[in-house]
Amino acid sequence: MLLVNSKNSELKNIVILATGGTIAGTGESGKTTNYEAGNLDIKSLIDSVSNINEIANVYSEQIVNVDSNDITINHWLTLANRINEISKQNDVDGFVITHGTDTLEETAYFLDLTVKTNKPVIVTGAMRPSTATSADGPLNLYQSVALAANDLSKGQGCMVVFADGIYSARNVQKVNTFKTNAFNSIDLGCLGYMRDNIPYFLNKSIKPHTVDSEFDILGLNKLPQVSIAYFNIDADPSIIDYLAKKSDGIVIAGAGCGTFSSDWLKEIRKLEPRGIPVVRSSRTGSGIILNDTAIDKSANCIPGNTLSPSKARILLSLALTKTVDYSKIRKIFEVY
Ligand code: SIN
Repeated sequence: MLLVNSKNSELKNIVILATGGTIAGTGESGKTTNYEAGNLDIKSLIDSVSNINEIANVYSEQIVNVDSNDITINHWLTLANRINEISKQNDVDGFVITHGTDTLEETAYFLDLTVKTNKPVIVTGAMRPSTATSADGPLNLYQSVALAANDLSKGQGCMVVFADGIYSARNVQKVNTFKTNAFNSIDLGCLGYMRDNIPYFLNKSIKPHTVDSEFDILGLNKLPQVSIAYFNIDADPSIIDYLAKKSDGIVIAGAGCGTFSSDWLKEIRKLEPRGIPVVRSSRTGSGIILNDTAIDKSANCIPGNTLSPSKARILLSLALTKTVDYSKIRKIFEVY
């Protein structure tokens, strides 16, 4: 139970769950490099957004304070369970998750598939630490709270707000290593724009999410292990067997349309009787992967559709909580 006292009864009650990242980073005053992520607590972060109390009553919890490269599946389960628990309270209207940008899209997609609420869940971060000149965290946080408090955001699944853009958790990707405009959905576009505290929605994701997702993490304390194998010219085929020994499923970050060498294909075919599904995604960053009659004639070879390798890994892991049947997993990749 989260204690909510509706400081201003005209405003929505928004819960910020903080996990660290550059948005909570500190370093040499004015500089954007060589800082430490996950240093500032969420209360100080909220205090840095001067007019946040004009758009919502804000409550916060520090889930963890780390560089997002150190986020684990345990953190995901804690976050999703906490949102599922608090969202049952009638006096809570929406959520904002602050997160490091390096793995932000992965956490956002996991939440999109596992939180069981129509209340808005917005994930945000920053490319510049809080101590930088023109830190981008305060505006991203302000706009995320505004989006979470807006009725138009209900039922839209988990969304990411970054640099005035609104993106679906399923499609968003980090596309730049340092610029503040570091996220977009490439061919698949944004859901809309933020201008100050007002959202302008233009698109909607048609893929199942949140209350329509079949995946339920209640009671789970771990997820099936899925590993990603990155293909490149002359890549060692023995990596496939190595990963198969440690994993319940494998995602290939393939060349082009999720492809790889004939030596890799031989290794992947050997996994069919061992019950290891292999999802084919692409290292290109955009496009769609559909059934390839030559490769996917092994039942364990499954086209990854439009999901990036890291998102395909999340979906395969959740799919494996429900079924090990290759044809059912293939269907899940068509639907989600
Ligand atoms: C991180 O992902 O925690 C560090 C990088 C960032 O937040 O931009």
